[in-house]
Amino acid sequence: QLTGKTDKLVPYGPANVMLLEDFNIPVMQKVAALEFAKNDIVVCSYPKSGTTWTQAIISMIMHAKDTEPIDVSQSKLDEWLYIEMNAPACKGKRPVEAARDAAPPRLLRTHLSWELLPQSVTTNSPRIVFVHRNLKDVIVSMYHMYCTFPNLASAHPANSAAEFAELFMQDKVHHAPYFHTFKSVWEHRNDPNVHHLSYESLREDPRSEIKRLADFLDKPLTSQQAEQIAHHTDFDNMRQNENLNSSAMTVTDKTTGETKFEFMRKGEVRGWRKHLSEEYGQKIDDWIQQEARNY
Ligand code: A3P
Repeated sequence: QLTGKTDKLVPYGPANVMLLEDFNIPVMQKVAALEFAKNDIVVCSYPKSGTTWTQAIISMIMHAKDTEPIDVSQSKLDEWLYIEMNAPACKGKRPVEAARDAAPPRLLRTHLSWELLPQSVTTNSPRIVFVHRNLKDVIVSMYHMYCTFPNLASAHPANSAAEFAELFMQDKVHHAPYFHTFKSVWEHRNDPNVHHLSYESLREDPRSEIKRLADFLDKPLTSQQAEQIAHHTDFDNMRQNENLNSSAMTVTDKTTGETKFEFMRKGEVRGWRKHLSEEYGQKIDDWIQQEARNY
């Protein structure tokens, strides 16, 4: 019941990640059973591209009332269902069952490529928000996550960002191959029910991007409301907000008490330069050029 072929997926691809959740029932069959509704809001992205930030912004947009000031306490990541994985919003149910029972408009997120989404993505045209980010920053962000969660990297551990980038370019990371996932959604970026935004533009001009996103969601904001959402979802403020900062992922060293991993890590544009040499950056750019030609 999938919308297309999955033969491009490699063993480290999405299906593999999802099987970690449940070894008995093929997760893709469960996802395929999900019926999208027209008023669903679905954030689609490759991991580490700004998914959670986008979710926080959308939550605030959806809770905004007329011209009233934004009530930040209303917005919680727990409102979001992660369609291929268990998330707090599932409250012990399987993601698809939780989605079936959720009140509209449902807030959904996914890292799946387009053809792995249920067919109703085409027939029912949910509102899709596609967020993407400079790939070198994605790679460095993902590398830090892999350093902290060794089970993610058990097959191919990397000792440096450059080593990780090498694995990334060989599609030996979860959610690989990157270009397949990226392009599958990118191709739909001009569909009327698809809104695309980049991490970098959100960083550069959050107010305009937030207004543009709110218009797409049919929840127009006043300038003050857009300003307030930009303020509340600014990296430092969001990092302080227990409802939005994914603090459940924080890892501390048991002996020293030192923080080893924080989901809200740096939030930088072109922060990759601190971890990869210019030469290595060029190598990734060359790979991007080559891959772009293949798609
Ligand atoms: P870094 O590891 O580079 O800091 P995702 O949610 O798709 O997994 O993306 C995670 C990345 O987005 C992390 O990047 C995280 O710090 C960054 N991020 C989360 N919230 C942010 C915000 N409010 N502003 C800027 N970056 C944010």
